[in-house]
Amino acid sequence: MTKADEITNSERQEGAGLPLEVVYQENISFWEKAWNMCKVPYTQLPDLSYIPRIADELNKNGAKKVLDLGCGSGWLAVYLARQGFEVVGVDVSAQAINLANTWASQEDLKISFDVADASQLQYQAGSFDAVVANSIFEHFPIKQAQQLTDKVNTMLKDGGIFIGCFDKVGGGPGEYYTLEDGTHVYTDKARKGMMLRRYELDELQDLFKAFKTMENDEVDGGSIFLVANK
Ligand SMILES: C[S@@+](CC[C@H](N)C(=O)[O-])C[C@H]1O[C@@H](n2cnc3c(N)ncnc32)[C@H](O)[C@@H]1O
Repeated sequence: MTKADEITNSERQEGAGLPLEVVYQENISFWEKAWNMCKVPYTQLPDLSYIPRIADELNKNGAKKVLDLGCGSGWLAVYLARQGFEVVGVDVSAQAINLANTWASQEDLKISFDVADASQLQYQAGSFDAVVANSIFEHFPIKQAQQLTDKVNTMLKDGGIFIGCFDKVGGGPGEYYTLEDGTHVYTDKARKGMMLRRYELDELQDLFKAFKTMENDEVDGGSIFLVANK
């Protein structure tokens, strides 16, 4: 066994015994550090086939006010504001929100961006017609994901819509240990602390069971595009 293997294994042991709240905070620290390395906004939309579908679904549902949950540096918030939606973006990283604000002001778009942990959101019940979440639930263990889904439900108006993409993640290189619910927690230098889980369809059906309807299909090589109506 090499020295690196020993370190990884002892980290794994240590991590496996940590309370979930500590693991949760370490994931937040990972994102804060990751975003702090980005100094200027990357002002391009990602190459994702389903971007226009998000606006179509919002329009079909008559949505006007939209929350972009875990907005990162703001590409989806910017895209939706360009289409005329009233957008609020929220992310735990202050630097991600700085970048998002910079991008929005470069385009003279009025978007309200907030820094907050998704488990501590202070938005009033029924404040949004829609909540969108791209590649964010993957960074929560099931228990916290359920709390977040319930919060999304509360923040939506009756008849409101949730649109999310759940990536086909995991299986790539990297050292990690596994939480009881199957969530991976990375221990390698590049992603230390980051939680990552790949959702199975039955897990998503369970998460969104309080919604009236849930539809989903596969996009971009196995990610799940999901639309749920309150
Ligand atoms: C994979 S990125 C996706 C960002 C963006 N939605 C996109 O599509 O590019 C995950 C985002 O979730 C944010 N995040 C992670 N944990 C969070 C938490 N507890 N509360 C709020 N945001 C969180 C990260 O800062 C990061 O911006």
